Amino acid sequence: MTVRGWVQTTRSSGKIAFVVLRDGTGYLQCVLSKAEVDEAVWEALRQLTQEASVAVTGTVRADERSPGGVELGVTGVTLLGASVDFPVTPKEHGTAYLLEHRHLWLRSRRQVAIMRVRHEVVQAIRDFFYERDFILVDTPILTGSIGETAGTLFETEYFDLGTAYLAQTGQLYNEAAAAALGKVYCFGPTFRAEKSKTRRHLTEFWMVEPEMAWYDSDDNMRLQEDFVSYIVARCLDRRAAELRELERDITPLERVTPPFHRISYDDAVAKLQTLGSDLRWGKDLGADDETLLANTFDRPVFVYNYPKAAKAFYMKEHPDDPRLVLANDCLAPEGFGEIIGGSQREDDHDRLLARIKQENLPLEAYGWYLDLRKYGSFVHSGFGLGVERTVAWICGIPHIREAIAFPRMLTRLYP
Ligand code: 4AD
Ligand code: MG
Repeated sequence: MTVRGWVQTTRSSGKIAFVVLRDGTGYLQCVLSKAEVDEAVWEALRQLTQEASVAVTGTVRADERSPGGVELGVTGVTLLGASVDFPVTPKEHGTAYLLEHRHLWLRSRRQVAIMRVRHEVVQAIRDFFYERDFILVDTPILTGSIGETAGTLFETEYFDLGTAYLAQTGQLYNEAAAAALGKVYCFGPTFRAEKSKTRRHLTEFWMVEPEMAWYDSDDNMRLQEDFVSYIVARCLDRRAAELRELERDITPLERVTPPFHRISYDDAVAKLQTLGSDLRWGKDLGADDETLLANTFDRPVFVYNYPKAAKAFYMKEHPDDPRLVLANDCLAPEGFGEIIGGSQREDDHDRLLARIKQENLPLEAYGWYLDLRKYGSFVHSGFGLGVERTVAWICGIPHIREAIAFPRMLTRLYP
């Protein structure tokens, strides 16, 4: 057979040469014995360089030592595209250099493995919701109302209509769609002008957001633990080879099954303070707090009932304590932090109106959103899961910039 692909590595003694090819489906070891082929073939193969594209012809044979269990006994080779001094070599390169060469870095084994895990995560997300009869609704990216917080908006001029914002969330539109369709989700890129250079923040990231009519906060958390467990199980089942390639210890992932731990915000603050955190009641958990807290649990944990002041305007006030909202975050173990933010939504028209005013949001942009509370208001909840944070956690990679093909960050727009 003939295989086309890219040369990953070459090695040869005087008599025998090996080339590992990558064709996108996997890796293939090609073997050539000098004694068995023409001099021209031997020379052509020996001159191949990293990332040259080639067509290699030969006989497939079983070989237990080869990746994939087979190797190709080479009889012919054609160079299709030369590659001189490929910039990303097996030696150590700094992160800045690798990001500058992201278009080429993507070809390395680790990056290929991460992209395959991401692909599985995305497919698992779609399957989970399809199997449960959720309807996909694509929400707009250009929006006229602030979805989360005024602090992190990308703005663009929009003809004669003033300013448009790139969506921070599809949630508000999902709420309208949930009244039409019951259980819905949106799944797309979201944008936050985060001026923070952390290992958990991108300016463009993918978020999947389900929204469910008639779900309260407890129903919401039950769906989240089923959802996260489903995604992890799928990766363990179908991406074991990639996780091995990434040297991911899968023991902690195997523990990711319902029920997850649950701790109220009040208890979380008290616990964190005994662990040495200086977190004060009323503030959102910082990244260090999340790690500290999550490390005390052997699987993901929900922190629920946050102070109103720390969270977005649309969350439902706690019926017994107006200082709190019925919100939850889901923290991944092993220091990967918040992967989900969710809440029951304020379904009382006047309370929501008061919150919009309190937050100084432009009232005229929220008429349609308030309408949802005027015409058949309904108990509903939903959440958003960040794809890159989830992929980084499952892969066990420290920084989320490797969890997306072309990361957008405070200081990166190229390539
Ligand atoms: O907690 P967040 O801001 O929640 C929302 O946007 C809600 N509207 C979701 C909803 O209820 N429908 O974001 C949700 C998740 C976070 O838990 C995190 O995983 C991810 O989105 N996320 C980011 N990921 C990468 N970079 C950033 N800058 C992120 N900001 C949030
Ligand atoms: Mg959040």
